Amino acid sequence: PVHAIGIDIGGTKIAGALVTDDGAIVAEERQPTPASDPAEIVEIVAGMVERLSAGHTVIATGVAAAGFIDAEQSTVYYAPNISWRNEPFRDRLRARLGMDVTIDNDANAAGWAEFRYGVARDAHHMTMLTIGTGVGGAIVIGDQLVRGGFGAAGELGHLRVVPDGLPCGCGARGCIEQYGSGRALLRMANEIADAGGIGTTLATARRDAGELTGGMLAQFLADGDPGALHALRQLGHWLGQACASLGAVLDPELFVFGGGVSVAGELLLEPVRESYLAHLPARGYHPEPRFVVAELVNDAGVVGAADLARIHAAAIGAAP
Ligand code: BGC
Ligand code: NA
Ligand code: ZN
Repeated sequence: PVHAIGIDIGGTKIAGALVTDDGAIVAEERQPTPASDPAEIVEIVAGMVERLSAGHTVIATGVAAAGFIDAEQSTVYYAPNISWRNEPFRDRLRARLGMDVTIDNDANAAGWAEFRYGVARDAHHMTMLTIGTGVGGAIVIGDQLVRGGFGAAGELGHLRVVPDGLPCGCGARGCIEQYGSGRALLRMANEIADAGGIGTTLATARRDAGELTGGMLAQFLADGDPGALHALRQLGHWLGQACASLGAVLDPELFVFGGGVSVAGELLLEPVRESYLAHLPARGYHPEPRFVVAELVNDAGVVGAADLARIHAAAIGAAP
């Protein structure tokens, strides 16, 4: 069998996997991300690829990265939450590996994996939002991943929801990323705590710890803390509003939510649906899309990146 390798470069960790042509993971590796020095990241990724491919036939390597990728799938030209600018990552890695390499946006890779092998495998038109440090997006229309004219379609996190709102890492203001991301959720929870809290838990924890962390918030949500739940509802309302606008443009059969925050499941989806309906054009007449959470969550990036690399290799006729 001919495998492909998927690499997912995140803010905190780099994941790599050897993936079969039906999306199954044969072997996997994880390492912490060094302080975003691209040369060091290239070395780590090259080492992973060498170890993962040893003894196997590998056709290509696909790398998922959290930024704007060019149409040639070669350069990360802007990454709002890491310091990469015009980073020619594909060529650096290809020079080290001597095999076909493609770079893809992290959310595009995750969305593609959900469409091919995950929760959207029976759909033809899907919109995905990944809710993590940032907000990522992926659009599938008519079974095709939409890449746009310059490679950067599906940057859904930078949809503007508040005119002249909070400044965003992309340089603009009022992007949904500032109201619907994991970071935004933490900000909202800290704000609720500062305003005296809903119940006492958030305010007390904030006083004791100085700042609420993602881990603390996840625990409060699991415990059903009313303040934490309120923050999540606010987040869901912003996201639902964005989905109403996205739906007007894309008309997907379903919206998929991935990323760390999506483990909240129905607690996240319920306010999303509610606010989607409240903002929906042609409400009551437009068929309702489904709102679901991702199935592959942690593996989506590596599986999607490997599959997209395999498709690219086939298109250029690369030999293993
Ligand atoms: C970036 C996207 C990325 C998303 C999730 C956004 O800030 O612009 O390229 O997909 O974060 O990592
Ligand atoms: Na994207
Ligand atoms: Zn933005």
